[in-house]
Amino acid sequence: MSVDVNERAAAAPPTYAEIVLDDEVRDAIGAALLQLPDPVEDIDRSLARLRVVFAGLPIEQLQAVLDFGRHVDTPGVAMVRNLPVDPDLPPTPVDGRPSAEKKTFVAEGALLGLSQLLGEPVGFTTEKSGGLIHDVVPVSAGAMTQTNQSSTVFLNFHNDIVHDEIGRYDVSNPDFLVLHCLRQDTAKEAVTYYADARDISRALDPAVLETLRAPLFRLNAPGSYVRDVAGGAEVLAEPTPIISGPHACPEIAVSANGVHGLTGEAERALTELQRVCREVAHRATLEPGTALLINNRKGLHARSQFAAHHDGRDRWLQRTYLRRSLWTIRYRALPDGRRVH
Ligand SMILES: [Fe+2]
Repeated sequence: MSVDVNERAAAAPPTYAEIVLDDEVRDAIGAALLQLPDPVEDIDRSLARLRVVFAGLPIEQLQAVLDFGRHVDTPGVAMVRNLPVDPDLPPTPVDGRPSAEKKTFVAEGALLGLSQLLGEPVGFTTEKSGGLIHDVVPVSAGAMTQTNQSSTVFLNFHNDIVHDEIGRYDVSNPDFLVLHCLRQDTAKEAVTYYADARDISRALDPAVLETLRAPLFRLNAPGSYVRDVAGGAEVLAEPTPIISGPHACPEIAVSANGVHGLTGEAERALTELQRVCREVAHRATLEPGTALLINNRKGLHARSQFAAHHDGRDRWLQRTYLRRSLWTIRYRALPDGRRVH
């Protein structure tokens, strides 16, 4: 007996979740975070402290975040609302580096406290100098690029990948990222999108899906690597499929900085993929006190264009990269940094 599309959709697990903290929980966590020093100075001690603070989440919400991190069939994206915020927020940095004027670390604590419920924070030397907390702000020199510095362009559907000597950029990359909003863009135009590979696969024409599941694609290295290390030249990965794994729980990999299809059909499938992503994507508007938990294997994310003025009032996100295990990327660990690769 065949299953009709609507029935199948009804049976499919939800791909989006929302977790809203009560005001009392927010205030209790906020008061604890306000006492903490800059968490990246002694990161492992800070994470231990933050584990205690976040043990104050109601049990249902704590389990929802933990399940998001550990299970195959849980949503690929979750919005967490009503997080505590810093009492005074300095101007948004204009250079993409951490603000030297930030004297309290409520935002950093909230970000890391949530993040470590999903995995271990990691840094990559080619991304924000290996930092564990990335300040994602519009940078004028990168306004038109397909990188986190952009503003005036639609940042296409992609996941966050890393250059790797093994020739694959979708292996040692983060399992999760968390985007935490400190300041919204003044016109409130910026929208983050998330398209889950389960929803994408259902919406695609079967022939296009089959093409995307064939090893006909070469991912280009991240923009930061191409710019800073390769002198602007493309550095392509080995041919891989875009979508892989079981149909019920597929993995998807697309580089923001361009993918080469090895055939005309593969190129057309990439165009169709971007179209379908827009069709099935969840929309999230990040505002202060909200964080978006993103599974970097279950789906792709994107961002609308927005106006940037580089005047200290621009959009300001902080981001973490997370691995479920540091063990599986130990081959690329650096001698002096347990969490930097
Ligand atoms: Fe991204």
